[in-house]
Amino acid sequence: MRAIQCQAWGEIDNLALVDVPPPAAPGPGEVLIDIAAAGVNFADLLMTAGKYQERPMPPFTPGFEAAGHVRAVGVGAKRVRVGDRVLAVLDRGGFAEQALAREADTFILPAAMDFATAAGFAIAYGTSHGALTWRAGLQEGELLLVLGAAGGVGLTAVEIGKALGARVIACAGSAEKLAVAKAHGADYLIDYRAENLRSRVREIADGGGVDVVYDPVGGDDFDTALRSTNWGGRLIVIGFAGGKVQQIPANILLVKNLSALGFYWGSYRRHRPQLLAPAFAQMFQWWESGKLKPRISGRYDLAEAKTALRLVGERKATGKIVLTTGAQ
Ligand SMILES: NC(=O)c1ccc[n+]([C@@H]2O[C@H](COP(=O)([O-])OP(=O)(O)OC[C@H]3O[C@@H](n4cnc5c(N)ncnc54)[C@H](OP(=O)(O)O)[C@@H]3O)[C@@H](O)[C@H]2O)c1
Repeated sequence: MRAIQCQAWGEIDNLALVDVPPPAAPGPGEVLIDIAAAGVNFADLLMTAGKYQERPMPPFTPGFEAAGHVRAVGVGAKRVRVGDRVLAVLDRGGFAEQALAREADTFILPAAMDFATAAGFAIAYGTSHGALTWRAGLQEGELLLVLGAAGGVGLTAVEIGKALGARVIACAGSAEKLAVAKAHGADYLIDYRAENLRSRVREIADGGGVDVVYDPVGGDDFDTALRSTNWGGRLIVIGFAGGKVQQIPANILLVKNLSALGFYWGSYRRHRPQLLAPAFAQMFQWWESGKLKPRISGRYDLAEAKTALRLVGERKATGKIVLTTGAQ
């Protein structure tokens, strides 16, 4: 089968399209999937650079999420059957024509959801759903500030914030990106490269601040957002796409009764797997009712994975980029 292989940690050019044997038959609790599409994530760049929290030794195939038909199921698989249309979350291996997934990480798709949409759905929406509900307890009417609001996870935070009844301020680095955030429901827009984030928040909040900050960017933007929160605010640390890991001043947490919350969605697959099925049920229901409108800004053949990853690394993607294999 065709697969993208990371042959050495480092540059995107260390990736190659190779022909490899397909995975072995699924073991107990596993599912083998014929992949139609795979979602591209910023974390694929981190993993192939050897900078992700998990560092597999090359050669390996990246790709944290995929969608397609179930080709075979292992002993003990109960929910998923051969022929089902599914999405799956993977430790890696999605940039290929087939992959093995744990049945527990595999979810049957709504009948109307196409594979490209499904391939980019799980991580982006799952992360924002978990972060805003399980972790931050976002309430109706609260003011939510989303950094990187036109990116993969950021745009889903805008939509899920709206689905939960919050008022949403979207921050992004260009007018085009802000237009995307607006089209997905953002109430207020801030170009945080051109405007003063803190004073714009104060203006929008009538002299006050925000209740929840959702931050996939990190660095100085987090520091400014921290100073733009209300008493009792919650800040969710999602990632560091800007490249700088911020230090959090405990004195400000104390004085304003703030909570800084780390959130790593993938770890719930191992620590709280029972939360995932109800979360997907709610997100699929929101999708069916039109509250979630996944954006795919680029579709590329598997062979063009490097081009797709470059777009993400160069900050040119909005919503999700997906790779397709040609399978239907
Ligand atoms: N904690 C979790 O469970 C979890 C789950 C998924 C993703 N993540 C993390 O969240 C972050 C975003 O992931 P994603 O897949 O949504 O990525 P993405 O689609 O590339 O979005 C990242 C956004 O960050 C902003 N950004 C600021 N500086 C950047 C830079 N130097 N390079 C690239 N983007 C930059 C960009 O928006 P502007 O141009 O508008 O600033 C971009 O839209 C990553 O760090 C990823 O590892 C965490």
